Amino acid sequence: MNEYLIGIETSCDDTSLAVIDNNANVVFDLVSSQIKSHIPYGGVVPEIASREHIRNLPILFDELIKKIGLKNVTGIAATHGPGLLGSLLVGFSFAKALAYSLNVPFYGVNHIEAHITSPWIESRELPLPSLVLVVSGGHSHLFYLNDFEKPYLVSATLDDAAGEAFDKIGKRLKMPYPQGPKIDKLARRGNPYKFKFPVPKIKGGKDYSFSGLKTAFLFTLDKLGLSLDKFDEENLPQWVYDILASFEKSIVDHLLDRMEKMLKKLKPASMAIAGGVASNSLLRFRFKELAEKFSLPYSIPSPKYCTDNAVMVCFNAYKRWRNKEESEILSDTFSNCEWERWSDEEL
Ligand code: KG4
Ligand code: ZN
Repeated sequence: MNEYLIGIETSCDDTSLAVIDNNANVVFDLVSSQIKSHIPYGGVVPEIASREHIRNLPILFDELIKKIGLKNVTGIAATHGPGLLGSLLVGFSFAKALAYSLNVPFYGVNHIEAHITSPWIESRELPLPSLVLVVSGGHSHLFYLNDFEKPYLVSATLDDAAGEAFDKIGKRLKMPYPQGPKIDKLARRGNPYKFKFPVPKIKGGKDYSFSGLKTAFLFTLDKLGLSLDKFDEENLPQWVYDILASFEKSIVDHLLDRMEKMLKKLKPASMAIAGGVASNSLLRFRFKELAEKFSLPYSIPSPKYCTDNAVMVCFNAYKRWRNKEESEILSDTFSNCEWERWSDEEL
C-alpha cells in the first residue's frame, strides 16, 4: 500500500500544499500565489499574507482530498519558521489540527533547512558532503552538509540578503512587486560592464554583505541624476537595463566568490543552490560554470523548487516519517533562528 506524507508551506506569501509517497515520488503539488494582492503595496504586507493563507489553504486542501483522499495519509509536515509569524501560524495550526484529527504524526520543518534539501528533489544521487548556497528574500547563507540532520553554517550575510537587495533597488526604480524576477528579465538586455559597483570587503573574507552594494546603486542614481517618473516596462531607457545588469553581476560575483573560496577550503563532494534567488538566470549559468571548473557534481533545482514550495517541506520530513518517528510537540512558530557555525580554525 502507498503511504502519503502531506507537506504545508505558508512562511511568506505563497500558500503551498504537496504530497509525496513512501518512495518520495511527488504525487500532489499545488502553489497559490498572492502576488496580485500585494502589488498595490510594492511588497508583501504580512497581515494580508496571513488572511490570504486562511482563504487559500482550504481551497488547495479540497483539491488534495479530491485527488488522493486522506485514507493513506500517515504523516503531516509543516513549516514552523523562520518566516512571517502570522503566515506561519496558519499552515502550522492547520497541519497540527489535521495530524491530530487523523491520528498521525506531525513534523515541524525549518524553512531554510527545507530549502537546503530542495536540490535533492530532482537529483537524488547528489553525493554528500555538499556545499549548499541558500539565497532567498531573508537569507544568503552557505551551508556545509555532512548529513541532512545537521547543516553547518559556513558563511552568512551580515546585513541584507541577496533577494532583499534585488527587491529594494527594484522598488527604487518604481518596479512593481515582485522585483527579483523582473530584474532578472530586464538585466538580460543590459550591459553588465556599464556601471561599476564595489566588491564588498569583509574582514575574514568569509561572510556576505549586500547593503553596501545597495547603497552604491542608490548613490550612482543620485550622482548621475538618473530616475524614472514611472516604471513603464515597454518604454525603458537603456541605462535601466545596464544598471540592473551591472548590479546583478556584482551580486552574483559576490555570492560565487565566497563559494569558490569555500570549495577550495572544504573540498565537498558536490555543490548546490537553493532559495528564490537561485532561479536567477545569471546565477544559474555562473554556478554551473563554477561546478564544471571544479569538476563537481551539482544540482540547480527547477525554478518551482527554488521559490517557496511544499515539496521541499515533505522532503525535509521524509526521513523522520519513514523512521516512524514520534509526533513532535511544537508549541509555536518562530521568525528567526541560528545554526551551529564553524569557527575560522575549524574551516
Ligand atoms: O525563497 P523565496 O521564494 O522566499 C523566501 O524564503 O524569502 O525567495 C524570494 C526572493 C525574493 O527576494 C525574490 O525577489 C527573489 O527571491 N527572486 C529572484 C528571482 N526569483 C525570485 N531574484 C532574482 N532573480 C530571480 N529570477
Ligand atoms: Zn523561502
